[in-house]
Amino acid sequence: MPILQPDQIYQLLRNLTSPVVAITSEHGGKRNGMIADSAVRASIVPTIPRVSVYIHKFNYSHDLIFETGRFALHLLRDDQFELIHRLGFASGRTRDKLADVPHRLGTLGVPVLGDCYASFECRVVNVMDTGSSTCFLGDVVEVDHGAAGRAVGSVMTAAHFRANMPGEWRGEYEALLRAAQAYAAERSRDLRPVIWKGLAR
Ligand SMILES: Cc1cc2nc3c(=O)[nH]c(=O)nc-3n(C[C@H](O)[C@H](O)[C@H](O)COP(=O)(O)O)c2cc1C
Repeated sequence: MPILQPDQIYQLLRNLTSPVVAITSEHGGKRNGMIADSAVRASIVPTIPRVSVYIHKFNYSHDLIFETGRFALHLLRDDQFELIHRLGFASGRTRDKLADVPHRLGTLGVPVLGDCYASFECRVVNVMDTGSSTCFLGDVVEVDHGAAGRAVGSVMTAAHFRANMPGEWRGEYEALLRAAQAYAAERSRDLRPVIWKGLAR
């Protein structure tokens, strides 16, 4: 059996990336948004809609979501490259990334983007520590169909984004990915048991 090199394994695992989603959060009046491709449906029960998403601890969004237990997840249309660049290439610690992005505050008080394929407001019901990131499990409490309701186009996939992003962004994207990989490489073995506050009895 051929032995696969780590990079070959990584490329195979890339088939398991999720659609590209925008994740928004709010804490104490501060609103933020980021991009993720690690979000999946986490329940097969129609009456218990759930999602999970892995968020690195160095991201500002991580702290906002961990503190509040609330986030909104947005499927994007396959032409929303600008939004991905705006939310996914720089941190909201030092700038208001949603200032020029039309949104409203939803049922949970988190920003819900006006222009997307569909949005899901989520309440965190449990978490898992991976050392470098937290996997948030969220109950979907509100849905807005967005473009999906009008059956417009298809959702942005990770492969579509990587293949079609403007060429001038590619160097920055790859540098950010390498930095995130270096951060994760240092911490991924340092797993901590976390009891989510919502579960405390
Ligand atoms: C296509 C794409 C996919 C990404 N996927 C993830 C992800 O799954 N988890 C994560 O923590 N960061 C992911 N990121 C990186 C964050 O979006 C990025 O670090 C962002 O600047 C975080 O913003 P914040 O510090 O304001 O929270 C992704 C970025 C891009 C462009």
